[in-house]
Amino acid sequence: MSQQPVHIAPSILSADFGRLAAEVAAVTEAGADQIHVDVMDGHFVPNLTLGPVVVRALRKATHLPLDVHLMIEEPERWIEAYATAGADILYVHPEACKHLHRVVQQIRAAGKKPAVALNPATPLSALEYILPDVTAVLIMSVNPGFGGQSFIPFSLDKIRALHAELERRGLSDQVTIAVDGGITGDNCAEVVAAGARALISGTGVFGTPDYKSAIATMRSRGTAAVKK
Ligand code: DX5
Ligand code: ZN
Repeated sequence: MSQQPVHIAPSILSADFGRLAAEVAAVTEAGADQIHVDVMDGHFVPNLTLGPVVVRALRKATHLPLDVHLMIEEPERWIEAYATAGADILYVHPEACKHLHRVVQQIRAAGKKPAVALNPATPLSALEYILPDVTAVLIMSVNPGFGGQSFIPFSLDKIRALHAELERRGLSDQVTIAVDGGITGDNCAEVVAAGARALISGTGVFGTPDYKSAIATMRSRGTAAVKK
């Protein structure tokens, strides 16, 4: 089992965009470990969100690492812009890249942490040759595009299978399993028990009246599930 701690990454997709800097400051104060930023282009996913100028503004609103989830086609065109804007981790989707290996090298060359995100129906085999080159794999537990959807149950099997594969290849301390979509205090223990160590949650944090309590609940239940 990976000995990595459980990290909580509130997804700003569910924040109040009219008060974005204040919302990010609030979850920072409430104990978040990193801030998850969903970039959508209206092509790869049926929604549009934000670009590098917003990431630059967020960079000033928190000292926490920014993990930027690129749900965009041809992400290679945008790596430099997000790196310069202040992203720390850059997630790209293999479904959106013609040359995944090249994009991962590009992220590393920009001095950032390369990571990959998989849509629910994409098999883990898409990662066979790239696993040693990434710092994290994000298992999408909803179809990307919107916050507030329900966790897809087969994601648990996928997390378990990825965890087993990382163990088998001696990569479990090097590659973090992240999970994104429908994560709440009610299911966080299960996903951690399956092997996830980064819990990305939009509605599960920003949709609650008390961010500190939502984050603390996920951390305590998640951490208890690591030790089991
Ligand atoms: C969905 C995004 C998620 C989203 C999660 O495409 O990648 O990060 O914000 O939102 P919840 O936690 O509400 O499912
Ligand atoms: Zn996301």
